[in-house]
Amino acid sequence: MEIRTVATVPWDDQRPGTSGLRKKTRVFAGRPHYVENFVQSVLDVVGEVAGATFVLGGDGRHFADEALRRTLAVLVGNRAGRVIVGERGLFSTPAVSCVIRRRGARGGFVLTASHNPGGPDGDFGIKYNVGNGGPAPESLTRRIHARTREIRRYFLAELPPDLDLARRGTRRVGETVVEVVDPVADYAEMLEGLFDFAAIRRLLEGGFRMAFDALHGVTGPYARHVLEARLGAPPGTVRRGDPRPDFGGLHPDPNPTRCRELVREVVEEGRLDFAAACDGDGDRAMILGRGIFVSPCDGIAVLADRADLAPGYRGRIRGVARSMPTSRALDRVAAARGWDLYETPTGWKFFGSLLDAGRIQICGEESFGIGSDHLREKDGLWAVLFWLQILAAGGGDVAGVLRAHWRRYGRDWFTRHDYEGVDPAAATALVEELRGRLSGLPGTVWGGVRLVRAEDFAYRDPVTGEEAVHQGLRFLFADDSRITLRLSGTGTEGATLRVYLERHGREDLDRPPATALAAVAARARALVEPRRRFGRDAPDVVT
Ligand code: G1P
Ligand code: ZN
Repeated sequence: MEIRTVATVPWDDQRPGTSGLRKKTRVFAGRPHYVENFVQSVLDVVGEVAGATFVLGGDGRHFADEALRRTLAVLVGNRAGRVIVGERGLFSTPAVSCVIRRRGARGGFVLTASHNPGGPDGDFGIKYNVGNGGPAPESLTRRIHARTREIRRYFLAELPPDLDLARRGTRRVGETVVEVVDPVADYAEMLEGLFDFAAIRRLLEGGFRMAFDALHGVTGPYARHVLEARLGAPPGTVRRGDPRPDFGGLHPDPNPTRCRELVREVVEEGRLDFAAACDGDGDRAMILGRGIFVSPCDGIAVLADRADLAPGYRGRIRGVARSMPTSRALDRVAAARGWDLYETPTGWKFFGSLLDAGRIQICGEESFGIGSDHLREKDGLWAVLFWLQILAAGGGDVAGVLRAHWRRYGRDWFTRHDYEGVDPAAATALVEELRGRLSGLPGTVWGGVRLVRAEDFAYRDPVTGEEAVHQGLRFLFADDSRITLRLSGTGTEGATLRVYLERHGREDLDRPPATALAAVAARARALVEPRRRFGRDAPDVVT
């Protein structure tokens, strides 16, 4: 086995964002050494690679096959001891986290751009997860970025041309054992330890009607195995279950805008009891019930509140966390139950230290991500099983569960407005101008309501002491409504401004968010001035 030292020049744009390095596929595919530079930079920073175990796989999107081999060639070139590869290169993000933990791996590479579209004109990404199974923390990604700017060489092995990554089996390549595994097995076994499968099976076999839409992402094989094979859901429950490199031309993004048909079928026409959809790499889930859409913010609160129904969580919750723009529905549950509540910046990486330290057991983000201390990633299929567990105890009625929650805690109406692909300079100017005006805003009146607090969210990790500043601007009003603004860190074109709106109330609980939040949205427009700044009259996506 020959290992070559290949001379390279740095790329200046390999800064990992909210969730790994994410770019247009053509950037990864077209630029020489782009993949190798990044992978080698990670390994240089992580250190002591020789002999260590790594996990490798992704959502199977366009270019993944090639990136898989090139990543593996660098891992072997650095004399990794073992690389555990998902069969056909497939591994969901939560499964990578699971396998890193179960196999005591040093880390893992996830080849995905999550919910972003794939294909030659779509997006690609590489994310590095560390030994606890979670995304590399900020301190590490900063060093990785610095390394990408100075890298001059990488170590490359020539993989045997007949090395078949589409079939299970173990083979030695140079000093590395390459182990191609079933990507589902470990993960499915883990789920079985957390939930009462017998109770869920009774629900699914008792006339309960559900659908799971994998959107041609990676969760198809997982959902078929867990829902259909193990839990007895009828064949065909899993839709679009074959992973495709271009996701069938879809956006593998589980939200009501992208999943119009499923929403019509379940929410508007009430033809199923329950439906869920997951994103490309399987860490997000959208939950629908007959006649009702579950806002992810509410979903987090309901799951935490009913955690005792799942054997893996019974009596175990001591703390919970949510990202800063996520609604305060979870806070009300935490207060009622005497749990600690942490508010973190956007991005799963900020939950890792709290989970590791046992300070929190359940956490989530408004962006359709919920998870727990079972892993260090959010987990779409896990959230689906958690809901099924709750429904198994409560007669299968999502709307009933949600309304009972609102009656007890009041409702936190929530919505997010995204202005996509806006001029980055205009977006930065908006944030900077508002930041400059923050101290003058309290006391000003917006549409008849006084603004009482304005702040530039900063976070100090209570476990590691790491600081993260400028994580978003937020505005609190006298009617207890909240507006949060931040720029996306996962986009690949222009800038995306996210505007998060929320308000708590105890009356008229069935009002849709658009109605309940109309006045808050008007205040947000006055703050953002989308027409003047971006030439836009309305957001591109409303979730
Ligand atoms: C988005 C979501 C964030 C999530 C991330 C990765 O990041 O808002 O909650 O953690 O994707 O899935 P953003 O584009 O807002 O930086
Ligand atoms: Zn994802």
